[in-house]
Amino acid sequence: MDRIRIRGGNKLNGTIHISGAKNAALPLMIASLLTDETLTLRNVPRLADVNLLLRILRNHGADMSMDGKRAGCSVMQGETVHLTAGEIVDTVAPYELVAKMRASFWVLGPLVARCHQARVSLPGGCAIGTRPVDLYLMALEKLGAKISLDGGYVVAEAPSGLIGDRIVFPKVSVGATHTTLMAAALAKGETVIENAAREPEVADVAQCLVKMGAKIAGIGSSTMTVQGVERLHGARHDVLPDRIETGTYAITAAMTGGDVTLAGARPELLDALNEVMRQAGAEVAASKDGMRVQRNGGLLHPISVETQPYPGFATDLQAQLMALMTKADGVSTIRETIFENRFMHVQELARLGADITLHGDTAHVRGVDRLVGAQVMATDLRASVSLVIAGLAAEGDTVLNRVYHLDRGFETLEEKLKACGADIERLSD
Ligand code: UD1
Repeated sequence: MDRIRIRGGNKLNGTIHISGAKNAALPLMIASLLTDETLTLRNVPRLADVNLLLRILRNHGADMSMDGKRAGCSVMQGETVHLTAGEIVDTVAPYELVAKMRASFWVLGPLVARCHQARVSLPGGCAIGTRPVDLYLMALEKLGAKISLDGGYVVAEAPSGLIGDRIVFPKVSVGATHTTLMAAALAKGETVIENAAREPEVADVAQCLVKMGAKIAGIGSSTMTVQGVERLHGARHDVLPDRIETGTYAITAAMTGGDVTLAGARPELLDALNEVMRQAGAEVAASKDGMRVQRNGGLLHPISVETQPYPGFATDLQAQLMALMTKADGVSTIRETIFENRFMHVQELARLGADITLHGDTAHVRGVDRLVGAQVMATDLRASVSLVIAGLAAEGDTVLNRVYHLDRGFETLEEKLKACGADIERLSD
C-alpha cells in the first residue's frame, strides 16, 4: 500500500493548477444516465472516485471515452469524458460498487426517473458519521416512487413515472438535493424544492441539466422550481474548479509560509474560508488567473469557526483549518455542525504534537511552537490532507499511511506540492 513521506520546513512558492471539482464531477457524470445522448464533461479530475463511478455507470450500460489536455500538463491525460447511456441495461447498483463511495447512491434519482425503477445498495463512503438516506427517500416518495428496503438495498418503483410535488427538506443535504433535482427533471409537472443545498456544485449540476433541456428556476438559491420534461438531450459542460482543493492549498500556503497562486480558482466561492484566513494572518487576494495566498513570517492568530452549509464555512475544510490552527498563537475553537464524527484527524494530529481537546461537537486547539514528524494514518479524505498540511510544517519526517483516501479526492497532490518546493514523495511498496 502506498505511503507518503513528507519532510517539513519548506516554504511554498509557485503556482498550483486547480482541478475540476470532485463533488461536481461525480453528480455531473451521474446526470448522464438521464439521457440516451452523449454528455461531454470537460475538466474532470483524475481521481479514484471518478474511476469508481465510471465502473458503476458502465454497469448500468453507459459507454465512455476520454480525451483532452489538462492545464499545466504537457501530455494528453483524459480530462474530457464523453458519457453515453444509450440504453440502461441494468437498474441495479450493487453493494460491491456503491459501498465504497457514498455519491454512487445518487444514481437512484436518474434511474427511477428514466427507467421507473431502481435497486441501489445502501451507501458507504468516508466514516465521518452515520450519514442516513432518509431525506433522499422522503423526496422520491413525494415524487410518487414506492420505496422499500430489501436485503440492504433501496428499491424504488414508479411504474407510471414520477410526478412533481413540493418537497421541503428539514435539513440541508447536498446529495438529496442532487438526487431530487435529477429525478424532478424527468417527472411530470412541477416540483418545488425548498431548503435546497446552495453549494456551488449543486448549481453547477443544475446548469448542466438546463443545457440538457431541463427547466429549472432558482438555481443557486434555497428554493428551486423544476418543470419536468419528457426527455433530456446531450450537452457539453465544464466542471467548475474545486473550491475544496483550492481551500486546502490556500491553507497549506498559510501553514508553511510563502507565496502561492492557485490558478483557475474561483475565490468568490471561498468567502467564508478567506475571511478566516485573513483573521489568521494570511494575505488572500483574487488574482488575474485565480487566487493568491501569501504569508511571510509573523504569528498565526487563533480563530473561532463553525461549519455550516454553503455559503458558510465548509465541513470539507474543517480538518485542514484545524491543522493550521495547531501552530497558532493561542486557542482556536472549531465546531463541527454537519457531521457528528468528523474529528478522526484529532488523534493523528496529536501524534505530531498538536494540542487539541474535544468537547462534543467542538474542538479547542491550543497552538504549539513546534510540530514534530511522526508516522500517521489517513482515516478519511479530508482528514488525510490535514495530516499532509501539518507534516509540511513539522520538524523532520512524517509518513502518512493509507494514502488511498487521498487519491480519492486530490489529483496528483504530491506533484502539485513538490512543484512549489515541498519535500514530499510517494513511497510504493
Ligand atoms: C456532500 C459532499 C461532502 C460534504 C457534504 C456536506 C459530495 C460527493 N460529497 O456529501 O464532501 O462533506 O456534502 O457539505 O458532494 N443527512 C441526513 N439524511 C439524509 C442525507 C443527509 O440526515 O438523507 C445529513 C448527513 O448525515 C449530514 C448532513 O445531512 O449530517 C449533510 O449531509 P449531505 O449534505 O447529504 O452530505 P453528502 O451529500 O453525503
